[in-house]
Amino acid sequence: MSREKSKPEAKSAADFIPPDPTLPRLTEAAASCTGCNLYKQATQTVFGEGPRKAKVFFVGEQPGDQEDRAGHPFVGPAGSLLNKALIEAGIARGETYVTNAVKHFKWEPQGKRRKHKKPNAAELAACKPWLQAELNAIRPKVVVCLGLTAAQSVFGRAVRLGDVRGTFHKTSLADDVFATVHPSSILRHPEKEQRDEEYRKFVSDLRLVRERLSSHHPEG
Ligand code: URA
Ligand code: SF4
Repeated sequence: MSREKSKPEAKSAADFIPPDPTLPRLTEAAASCTGCNLYKQATQTVFGEGPRKAKVFFVGEQPGDQEDRAGHPFVGPAGSLLNKALIEAGIARGETYVTNAVKHFKWEPQGKRRKHKKPNAAELAACKPWLQAELNAIRPKVVVCLGLTAAQSVFGRAVRLGDVRGTFHKTSLADDVFATVHPSSILRHPEKEQRDEEYRKFVSDLRLVRERLSSHHPEG
C-alpha cells in the first residue's frame, strides 16, 4: 500500500457537501462540485428539482444533452414522456422530486452530436453523496429508480432490473425503493407497437407507486 501525501484533487462529492445541508444550500454547493472528472466535459451541474415535501423521489441516470444545456433535470424527450406517464398514472407533478444518479452529462462526440455515455461505477460512487443528501433533505415516502443505472446506485450493488422491477425494496439508502425502466429505453424501441407496449407497462408500474403513496405506512 502506498502512502501518499494529501491529495489536492477531490475524490468524491463528499468533499463538497455543505454543513447544514438544506436543499437550496445543496443545489448551490453542487454547482461547483469537482468530485469526479465528469464536470470537465459538461456545461453545468444539473441538480435535482422539486418540492422539499415531495412524497415521491425519482432517480434517473444523468442529465442528457438538453438537460446539460438547460441546467434542469428531465426537460428533454425522456422528461416529456415521464411527465405524460405521471399524469396517466395519477401522480401529481407537484409532489414529485426528480434527480439523477450522476449530476453531470457524460458524453462522447458522434459527428456533431454529443452522444450519451453511461457513467461508470466510480462516477456513480463519487456522485452518490449528493443523492444521499437530497434524500436526507426530502425524506420521501417512495424512491423510484428509472432504469438500471439508478437502481445500481440506490441499491448499492449490481442488480438486474428484471429482478427488482415492479416491487418495493428496502435498501441502505431508503426504506421504500421501487424500480422501473428508464423512459429513454422506451423511446429507443424502433417499433411503435413495442414502444406503446413498453409505455403501457411503465404507466402500470407508476400506478403501483401511486397506490403505494396513498396507502403508505412507513415501517422503521
Ligand atoms: N435522462 C436522465 O436519466 N435524466 C435526465 O435528467 C434526462 C434524461
Ligand atoms: Fe461532482 Fe457528481 Fe459532477 Fe462528478 S458527476 S463532478 S461527483 S456533481
